[in-house]
Amino acid sequence: MSLGIGVIGAGTVGGGVIQTLLTQKNAIARKTSAQLELVHIADTLPERFKEFALGPNVRTSTDATALIEDPNVAVMCELIGGLQPAKRFIAQALRAGKHVVTANKMLLAHSGPELCQIAQEHGVELRYEAAVAGGIPIIKALREGLAANNIQRVYGILNGTCNYILSRMTYDGLDFADALRQAQELGFAETPPDLDIEGHDTAHKCQIIASLCYSTEIALDDIYVEGITRVSHADVAYADELGYLIKLLAVVREAGDAIEARVHPTLVPKQHLLASVRHEFNAVYVKGDVTDATLYYGRGAGRMPTAGAVVADLVDIARRGTGSAPAPFVYGPKRPIRDMGHIEGAYYLRLTTQDQPGVLGKVCTALGNHRVSIAWCIQKGEIANGAVHVILMTHETVESAVQSALSEIDQMDFIVEPTHVLRVLQE
Ligand code: HSE
Repeated sequence: MSLGIGVIGAGTVGGGVIQTLLTQKNAIARKTSAQLELVHIADTLPERFKEFALGPNVRTSTDATALIEDPNVAVMCELIGGLQPAKRFIAQALRAGKHVVTANKMLLAHSGPELCQIAQEHGVELRYEAAVAGGIPIIKALREGLAANNIQRVYGILNGTCNYILSRMTYDGLDFADALRQAQELGFAETPPDLDIEGHDTAHKCQIIASLCYSTEIALDDIYVEGITRVSHADVAYADELGYLIKLLAVVREAGDAIEARVHPTLVPKQHLLASVRHEFNAVYVKGDVTDATLYYGRGAGRMPTAGAVVADLVDIARRGTGSAPAPFVYGPKRPIRDMGHIEGAYYLRLTTQDQPGVLGKVCTALGNHRVSIAWCIQKGEIANGAVHVILMTHETVESAVQSALSEIDQMDFIVEPTHVLRVLQE
């Protein structure tokens, strides 16, 4: 029996889904026995319909409600993005007994529990493989492949734009603005790009992964988010000299009863698997107590990789067949998110200071008073007006100790600008 599919949003990803359903239909059926039948497309821009060779059996409308009410639509793909009206359309479709497949990470991060609850109440599925890391089947891996594990940690490079910018700064010496412009031209940056470069897009994906790993509701606001806009050429070069690359990571870890869920630029040792993930590619490193470490790599954005993830969800729904119970995502008891002050790890500190006697003594004393031990110290030549960079790498410590020491150090009269802090990847 075929599964009637409706697509709302015929833009980048929606267009890729439509194209895939039209061209791969027979190959998918042969391989998976799933009969995926595109029956309805809705978009507020009707000129988009002309882009596809639609047969007479595919309805088109400019109104999503017409698609939701179409009795031939068994699954609605929501590919318009944003919070509203996407949320309203998804809730409406679920209540009408339609399965929903979405790539909408922002909406899931804001309203995932509410929408999952509606899906569960109406005995339908809400699936979102495309919402995290595009073409990488990480949701399936966490939900199914790694089901036997208690997940100990996840490190994700989940934003292609940020990884592209940092890679171009590292390998090609590009400055931030040029690298961003190129990411925009290549089509994987959000519009405006603040969601990418300020870390919020990664935070949305971090929230989805953390909820899934620990079956718990995680408030987006509880996730610490720091983007890449303060990472300078100097940081990239000093990190390189110390044996690290800088990557924007989503970090999810179990810490006793609590969970760590945070997003920030991170120093990744060059020999770590994640260090080889360049340009717009995404990767997710997952360590579980049964399977141990696994790594997933691929394109995290773009029309066709993301469309592939949407279609994979459709195949799963079709294979399950009508009448059988969908697999609900159940949220267990709430667990606290660990306060950033309690995070443990090593730190990179870039001080900008006047080059004068006694500076290092005073800085190291302040760190020592807070029990922060120094592993490395490098002073660089003059950058401007007698100021120099001093790079300190600490041994493993507690973040609150580093922050307390820095609040004293940054008040010292020889310090020219606030110290830049970067966290180092913990194994
Ligand atoms: N802007 C996102 C990125 C697209 O650069 O990865 C995929 O979420």
